[in-house]
Amino acid sequence: ESTLGAAAAQSGRYFGVAVASGRLGDSTYATIANREFNSVTAENEMKIDATEPQRGQFNFTAADRVYNWAVQNGKEVRGHTLAWHSQQPGWMQSLSGNDLRQAMVGHINGVMAHYKGKIAQWDVVNEAFADGSSGARRDSNLQRSGNDWIELAFRTARAADPSAKLCYNDYNVENWTWAKTQAMYSMVRDFKQRGVPIDCVGFQSHFNSGSPYNSNFRTTLQNFAALGVDVAVTELDIQGASPTTYANVVNDCLAVERCLGVTVWGVRDSDSWRSEHTPLLFNNDGSKKAAYNAVLDAL
Ligand code: XIL
Repeated sequence: ESTLGAAAAQSGRYFGVAVASGRLGDSTYATIANREFNSVTAENEMKIDATEPQRGQFNFTAADRVYNWAVQNGKEVRGHTLAWHSQQPGWMQSLSGNDLRQAMVGHINGVMAHYKGKIAQWDVVNEAFADGSSGARRDSNLQRSGNDWIELAFRTARAADPSAKLCYNDYNVENWTWAKTQAMYSMVRDFKQRGVPIDCVGFQSHFNSGSPYNSNFRTTLQNFAALGVDVAVTELDIQGASPTTYANVVNDCLAVERCLGVTVWGVRDSDSWRSEHTPLLFNNDGSKKAAYNAVLDAL
């Protein structure tokens, strides 16, 4: 195959990209994004601050720009993200307790209703665990509202759109030996045991010198899949874009039957939120990097 998306489709998977609505007018960008990828995640446009800037007043202008571009070009869409400590609008940042929980429920219902039946996977909850060795939840206004805020989010999401796969998504959870990974594993196991509706786990996979790729990532994916959830690589970028590491990540996904696909977090290095890491598959002029060829060969 000659594109990442077509190559991934040979095994029933997708190869996706984070798209920024403001870049779709850049023809080099849009040409590559359309040619190479068959799944799209909005980089920022479906987040809480973008979609509900005032409480109860939803705005899907930018989100729909990404969504419509994706669907008109035959791609599936990952929804990102409904409940998160970051990129909350000001009104939500100042909420707490039951009022915040009701706002979270209202937000999930409002966004999922707009896209009902149209989203392959939703990142229902993003980044709820703390970094480091504690294995604890991350402190946030949502966490302070009660430890069960995550399952409330998932139950709300299932009722709002039963057709979407519901994912928990996080970073620094790729290495099986890390406390954060184990904490996430315990939560997913508990959810499956108690019937909390969760379908998938997203591994962001922002690899860098502080949190490098480790070959036990495959074990992590396998162990989560064995709990009865799908897994996905949701925001891949690799500091320095080592072709070997990119190929390893792809091979890890391909080795796990329940790995749905891989999404890279941007098109060219200059589009990356960490552009100084030159972490992506395309050079700033749109040419393919060595990592691109490594990924295509691995798929
Ligand atoms: C990042 C975007 O790439 C940036 O443009 C934005 O300024 C901040 O958020 N984890 C996530 C993504 O789940 O939503 C983040 O995206 C990167 C880390």
